Amino acid sequence: MILGVETSCDETAAALITPEGEVLANVVSSQADLHARYGGVVPEVASRRHLELVLPVIRDALDSASATLDDVELVGVTTGPGLIGALLVGLAAAKAIAWSRRIPLAAVDHLRGHVASLFLEPDAVEPPFLCLLASGGHTLLLDVRDRGGRPRVLGSTLDDAAGEAFDKGARLLGLGYPGGAAIDRIAREGDPSAYDFPVARVPGFDFSFSGVKTALLYTVRGLAPDELERRRADLAASYQRAIVRALVERTQAAAAEIGTERIAVVGGVAANTELRATLPGAALAPLPLCTDNAAMIASAARFADPISYPGYLGLDAYASLA
Ligand code: KG4
Ligand code: ZN
Repeated sequence: MILGVETSCDETAAALITPEGEVLANVVSSQADLHARYGGVVPEVASRRHLELVLPVIRDALDSASATLDDVELVGVTTGPGLIGALLVGLAAAKAIAWSRRIPLAAVDHLRGHVASLFLEPDAVEPPFLCLLASGGHTLLLDVRDRGGRPRVLGSTLDDAAGEAFDKGARLLGLGYPGGAAIDRIAREGDPSAYDFPVARVPGFDFSFSGVKTALLYTVRGLAPDELERRRADLAASYQRAIVRALVERTQAAAAEIGTERIAVVGGVAANTELRATLPGAALAPLPLCTDNAAMIASAARFADPISYPGYLGLDAYASLA
């Protein structure tokens, strides 16, 4: 089986999958509560917590798959992009396990990992497709032609990522961190046409979410506290509608451009109820595989070039897009 390890941000995660892509265990320990009081992820705090959690989480994954390290034939680990200290914790753990068992290791790009969440059984999605990757750190439109190759980037965000826009909006609305799921929840009770929050139209297939965030900021500033309380659901619903509209519009335009009707959505924002409902024909990553997890990293490892023992000992992590 393949062991996946993911520690690029604030989730410590380990998973076991079969060589055919069936998930045997998928353990995710979120640090969100730890970072909530700071309103965002504190890198050094994240690294230290990963260090405490990485081995128990791997142990937990092995136990829930009724497996031992003897069953692991390949280790797949996220080497970037992400928080460098956080990445190094997972990488060191993965190297130590692979080295001690003399098995190969596959370095996995976190974004390719999100795409590979679609290649897991039982509902694997076969390329080619146009993929919207929307997470807390990235918003990308990718032309995915095969499972192993590097997809062509058709568009990305010029400023905030879609998830970041949700998180910043949630903060303005007093909904805590991370806020995407909280906005999603409260928006169900609100009127999405109550406020008009336009999203900037930039040329091509790129996105820009800084304007919509500023529009929300000024609206919130203009409301008295009790008014904000009363209008919170309407604000959340309208704000969510603006972001989802921008995502859907650009995704459909990019799909038309490359001449495909096959659209897939991955990443934390793919969990959003309105986005899922607005793209009914799209292949959507299953909910537990949208936000960061290690099953998607193990899945990407299936299609990566493994580095054989002990060639990976000098492998490094990288913070930004390679
Ligand atoms: O993919 P992910 O777990 O981490 C990154 O690689 O960044 O994405 C996390 C992001 C956060 O910004 C979070 O607010 C957002 O995904 N998110 C959502 C929902 N669930 C998580 N955004 C909108 N609606 C949701 N239901
Ligand atoms: Zn992610």
